[in-house]
Amino acid sequence: MKKITVETHLEVYDSLEELPVSIQKLFNKAQQARDTAYAPYSHFKVGVAITLDNGKIIQGSNQENAAYPSGLCAERVAVFYAGASFPKSAITALAITVKSSDKIVTTPVAPCGACRQSLAEYEIKQKSPMAVYFMGETGKIIKAPSIKALLPLGFDGSFLDGN
Ligand code: THU
Repeated sequence: MKKITVETHLEVYDSLEELPVSIQKLFNKAQQARDTAYAPYSHFKVGVAITLDNGKIIQGSNQENAAYPSGLCAERVAVFYAGASFPKSAITALAITVKSSDKIVTTPVAPCGACRQSLAEYEIKQKSPMAVYFMGETGKIIKAPSIKALLPLGFDGSFLDGN
């Protein structure tokens, strides 16, 4: 038996002012997007903004459904819209922020496993890393330099026949 260690490297920032202005602006767009969330069941609104290498910014928010699994997370709403609208453009950065009606969220909220998997697919497709920034409503911000830092040992097309 041999043990392997999987390490991940993330950056933690105390406030938005520590980040480049372009990322501060991206978080403004994510906050704006958060207001468009349709979250009548969880009351937990998530907003995402994505920068593309063509200069466009794509926004997304969570969209819930009375049949719960039929809803979709903000990250996938945004990344699928980006993929469908600009299939040839690469995602350079993504900002995620949340707002709950129950409490002020002060800890950074990382994307769920299914969203990490979806984002990883686009990183592989574009052959370049996307920086993923996430925060709560306020408080610290975490930066992952690549989605791979949030999804080590991920499943990808190389495991499938013919890839
Ligand atoms: N949600 C997201 O939008 N992104 C995530 O990564 C985790 C959860 C949404 C789904 C649901 O509408 C609400 O947050 C509560 O789970």
